Amino acid sequence: MDTAKLILKGHEYEFPLIEGSEHELAIDFTKLRAQTGAISFDPGYGNTGSCMSEITYIDGEKGILRYRGYPIEQLAERSSFVEVCYLLVNNKLPTAEELASFQQKLTYHTLLHEDMKKFFESYPPSAHPMAIMSATAISLSAYYPELLDPEIIDLNIVRLLAKFKTIAAYAYKRSIGQAYVYPRNDLGYTEDFLHMMFAVPTEDYVVPEVLTRALDLLLILHADHEQNCSTSTVRMVGSSQANMFASVAAGVSALWGPLHGGANQAVIEMLQMIHKDGGDYQKYMNMAKDKDSGFRLMGFGHRVYKNFDPRAQILKKAADEVLSELGINDPLLEIAKNLEAIALADSYFVERKLYPNVDFYSGIIYRAMGIPTDMFTVMFALGRLPGWIAQWKEMRNDAATRINRPRQIYTGATVRDYVPVKER
Ligand code: CMC
Repeated sequence: MDTAKLILKGHEYEFPLIEGSEHELAIDFTKLRAQTGAISFDPGYGNTGSCMSEITYIDGEKGILRYRGYPIEQLAERSSFVEVCYLLVNNKLPTAEELASFQQKLTYHTLLHEDMKKFFESYPPSAHPMAIMSATAISLSAYYPELLDPEIIDLNIVRLLAKFKTIAAYAYKRSIGQAYVYPRNDLGYTEDFLHMMFAVPTEDYVVPEVLTRALDLLLILHADHEQNCSTSTVRMVGSSQANMFASVAAGVSALWGPLHGGANQAVIEMLQMIHKDGGDYQKYMNMAKDKDSGFRLMGFGHRVYKNFDPRAQILKKAADEVLSELGINDPLLEIAKNLEAIALADSYFVERKLYPNVDFYSGIIYRAMGIPTDMFTVMFALGRLPGWIAQWKEMRNDAATRINRPRQIYTGATVRDYVPVKER
């Protein structure tokens, strides 16, 4: 009962099963090629478990998401982003003293080396902030070389968590040509970030509490999502024993794409197009269903969630609350809700189990907060950072980690003789 049998070209092979703590089942194919000469073929890795992990559990059929066992709904309602960072990285909820000490460390490592300001100045103001985020994250490795000492690794984790938000705010200030605002030690993590984003040297600025609360929620909801594209990239790069800054920088690049974190920007652009078109939903629905159009309903569909994305449900409610608290009436919210209702009643979306994902409503909240569209994916990166770090750390400490190196099925030319250029 605890093995799987495979019959291949008349020979029978047996492989062990692996069962997770939530009873997910896997066939252990570690010895598949050695025993059978064949490899498994799974483009997009939809059926491939690349690691064992204790960090995040998702049940896509039931719409369950838990960090270290704690349901996302409870964390969203009662926790804070800093506490979630601690939980993900340290595998436990902190005591009051541990939380205070962690918060203090995150506060005292926010400054960037003054020389790093030159990096920001060397980009054109039109540079996408994700390009700056990725490049600056890897540049940190030049300032804080990784030593194998676990204490230094822990210190670098704190440095990255603390400095990433300063980098994000500086990238924004650079893009609008404003003076950088230094981090402040009297502000909490999220409030400090928003202060660096929106304060100007000419006047006092107090971050409205509603903004801090909304962003903290968004960051919690993005904090980890098991082996998604960017996290797998972090693990892939880290598996060669590249340092944490380099691994995370690669994760930032993977996140940028519109099928992943870049979708939040793409959703708003899509809603704006629909708005400009006078709310012609059917045109966009038809395009989304037409494979030749190259257009997809952005913010819809998910590799894992096949019923609902719990993050999207929380954000739909939050969008209403935040916009009403800020007194904003954004026509895009109405368009998003109408589009969702139309898509959920359409057989194309129903049959394929396509539902709104986390990116569908997040952009509307960011917009209401005054965050510009090309910073949306940066917000996702800021939220996902503790997840990347926790996954990188878990991979580094796992004795079973091998360099990630998939195989392929070669479909190119078979052997042929080289012909010198003059004879071709
Ligand atoms: N609009 C129209 N059709 C879609 C969509 C969509 N958004 N998503 C999937 N489909 C169709 C797809 O064409 C395919 O149809 P068929 O079976 O006829 O060939 C079927 O649904 C299955 O899609 P898939 O591409 O095989 O699914 P996947 O698991 O490889 O891709 C996805 C998942 C999220 C990349 C995809 O749903 C998508 O492109 N969504 C839009 C982009 C988006 O919102 N991305 C954010 C994901 S959530 C945040 C994150 O974690 O990054």
